[in-house]
Amino acid sequence: MRIVVLVSGTGSNLQAVIDAVKDGRLDLEIAAVGADRPGTYGIERSAAAGIPTFVVDFKAYPDRAAWNAALTGAVAAFAPDLVVSSGFMRIVSADFIEAFGGKYLNTHPALLPAFPGAHGVRDALAYGVKVTGCTVHWADAGVDTGPIIAQEAVAVGDGETEESLHERIKVVERRLLVSTLASLAPAQKPEYPAHPTNSQHGPF
Ligand code: GAR
Repeated sequence: MRIVVLVSGTGSNLQAVIDAVKDGRLDLEIAAVGADRPGTYGIERSAAAGIPTFVVDFKAYPDRAAWNAALTGAVAAFAPDLVVSSGFMRIVSADFIEAFGGKYLNTHPALLPAFPGAHGVRDALAYGVKVTGCTVHWADAGVDTGPIIAQEAVAVGDGETEESLHERIKVVERRLLVSTLASLAPAQKPEYPAHPTNSQHGPF
């Protein structure tokens, strides 16, 4: 399975995927990592890991449609089986998602459909919820909408700040993203025969 990962910032979820591929927990290829603006740490991490990178700068295009078409072309060049929005803070069009067979995965730091958008952690804290969490889902062209694949809850502590809560959510989110990708990747080949052959052990 070949994936392209899209980022807008730090890319710590992406790093969890890079690490899981490197140490053999995930049997997939990160074909490329793309960003919507120059100078992201996510792109820097990817380059350091030897992964091809690209930037389709939102600000360099006259409108969203032109940017979306350019992004579609840049991602399609790597022929992915799946595209992952990992802290990618832009809405893509239905055309983009269709171009990749609807295989557009997103992670979000809240229990969707609660608290979608760019400030899921801040909004959950402001509401005063006692439990929030993270969601991995198939994204459609809405804001953090589409069929949910996996969710995990995180309790909100007393005196929690947006930063402390987001970091605790991200610890869970990184694990959930890796396990979701593992469940979507084709089964890994066993390194040795799963059953002894008859010639070795005779009929049972
Ligand atoms: C993650 O928590 C991700 O869920 C969130 O951005 C963070 C990126 O962190 N995405 C959204 O809020 C999408 N609505 P990272 O760059 O360290 O992986």
